[in-house]
Amino acid sequence: MSNYHIKNLEEYYQVYRKSVRNPQSFWEEIAEEHFLWRKRWDKVLDWDFEKPSIKWFEGAKLNITENCIDRHLHIRGNKTAILFEPNDPKEETQHITYRQLYERVCKFANVLKEKGVKKGDRVCIYLPMIPELAISVLACARIGAIHSVVFAGFSSTALATRINDCEAKMVITSDGSYRGAKTIDLKGIVDDALEHCPCVETVLVVKRINVEINMKEGRDQWLQPLLDNAYQDCDPEIMDAEDPLFILYTSGSTGRPKGMMHTTAGYMVYTAYTFKNVFQYREDDIYWCTADIGWITGHSYIVYGPLANGATTVMFEGVPSYPDFGRFWDIVQKHKITQFYTAPTAIRALAKENLDYVTNHDLSSLKVLGTVGEPINEEAWHWYNDHVGAKKSPIVDTWWQTETGGILISPIPFATPTKPTYATLPMPGVQPALMDEDGKEITGNQVDGRLCIKFPWPSMARTIWGDHQRYKDTYFSAYPNHYFTGDGALRDEVGYYRITGRVDDVIIVSGHNLGTAPIEDAINEHPAVAESAIVGFPHDIKGNALYGFIILKETGESRDRDNLGKEVNQQITDRIGPIAKLDKIQFVPGLPKTRSGKIMRRILRKIASKDTSNLGDTSTLLNPEVVEKIMEEAL
Ligand code: PRX
Repeated sequence: MSNYHIKNLEEYYQVYRKSVRNPQSFWEEIAEEHFLWRKRWDKVLDWDFEKPSIKWFEGAKLNITENCIDRHLHIRGNKTAILFEPNDPKEETQHITYRQLYERVCKFANVLKEKGVKKGDRVCIYLPMIPELAISVLACARIGAIHSVVFAGFSSTALATRINDCEAKMVITSDGSYRGAKTIDLKGIVDDALEHCPCVETVLVVKRINVEINMKEGRDQWLQPLLDNAYQDCDPEIMDAEDPLFILYTSGSTGRPKGMMHTTAGYMVYTAYTFKNVFQYREDDIYWCTADIGWITGHSYIVYGPLANGATTVMFEGVPSYPDFGRFWDIVQKHKITQFYTAPTAIRALAKENLDYVTNHDLSSLKVLGTVGEPINEEAWHWYNDHVGAKKSPIVDTWWQTETGGILISPIPFATPTKPTYATLPMPGVQPALMDEDGKEITGNQVDGRLCIKFPWPSMARTIWGDHQRYKDTYFSAYPNHYFTGDGALRDEVGYYRITGRVDDVIIVSGHNLGTAPIEDAINEHPAVAESAIVGFPHDIKGNALYGFIILKETGESRDRDNLGKEVNQQITDRIGPIAKLDKIQFVPGLPKTRSGKIMRRILRKIASKDTSNLGDTSTLLNPEVVEKIMEEAL
């Protein structure tokens, strides 16, 4: 993949115009030139946003792992594909070459087959950031099994919900994980989850922290002995372009998580193309994305996008603060990282620490910096630009979603002049639209509205697993014939986009998408709680933190509030995971409601943000006295 780099702004506009005038021929050209197909497609695109139905490269046959591994072997067999940096800096870095990756994926794939996993079966992967995570993902793809990676910070209840939703027959996990100075009992969490998951037949366990764990006879097996006996070649399963590749859960504004389903060919083409352009990737670069493979960023821009380009991709097991706040910069210096891609929340956390942690390191290898997951505030942007990038590495503020599969809006380094807090311009083939509340498109510049996309791009999710109606209702109903993102955005005088945040009940905390409903459900299960409402409020490091307003039952009134608060947070940790814990809890006599009984979150958001000078239109508010009381006692 050498000749589709965009080099300057003029070229960007040319390419963009071409991609919009004729998207089919634009994507066809890229697909033709850069990938290995077992059979060519019959039709580039077939779409209908009303159904909704989206098909790219219909009729084509391929295997994504052949594109990510096999085809590199003759030219890059000895090149490092995955560079694994362990949690403990004293433990040795691992360099896994493309040749070794091939063998390890094939062996793993043969183990899956031997355990009865077949094309179309779902395999749940609940692993820390160790090489086996990437390898098991690729092993599933090798045999056409659908992987469903669950971030290893989710609780057993959250894990069980995700396993059951897609009826996974196998879980791949480890005896535990390292996280800074701590270890986490992953296998124990899996055991608890599986009490409620009759669909799971087999659990494969990777040895990582060498602790005694419970192995259930007939269900659980250590992975290594199986790998030792497995054959080192495995013919790839030949997949249809639209065969499912993976399911990845994301929070919704209502209870159940949404299993976004991504398919094979379009996802591959789009992630490879955007990886190459957004990071201006060149053959000898050492690329590092600090995300976890448990999120879409890791799927698309640690595993598939980089490997489809034959890149060296770094996997980091640890955290930015261990053994000290210089760890990221140690790694950049040690491996001469050229592209560094992280989340604004990490930048804000590191910017709070002594600058020596940064300046003590040689970061001159860096060429491109990236951010993802939430809006980046101006201060963090400048800190990143000045101290990490030495004002010479462009920052790509990449906007996208689990649902979009790949980056949709981002500067192209050295082509698009950057502007702090702006994701800037759409990628080729991406057609954004801003809509007003009545569903009309807002044209022209210096406007703001709700961000939609009006034409399909290859890596969009095709459905919500098992619930196509919800897919339609969530993304294609608010604005007919448009994909609705759930985000608000503004377009400045030159057409640059700035994402202003969610306009629905999803709150982004430390870059993690959290739905209010599942958190409220978890709180309401507490025996002393009658009702609750969660809103976000601005937080220095997390971007947003959670503020819970809780009404107690009569039986709870006499209880100590601090203890109750702790119990509520424990309840959330058990049901969802520690990422969803509340920073502030206020016990209230009631919640502001409309006459039809809907909670007026807008008012709660203002109270939580200490912005109560103007509460806006309160004419439909049923109980103004409750609002007075909540304001008086606000934290
Ligand atoms: O609100 C947007 C925010 O993250 C949401 C998507 O979250 P998730 O599906 O978890 O995927 C995150 C990683 C791709 C979006 O709807 N978001 C993501 N990137 C940005 C962003 N908000 C502002 N600027 C960004 N660069």
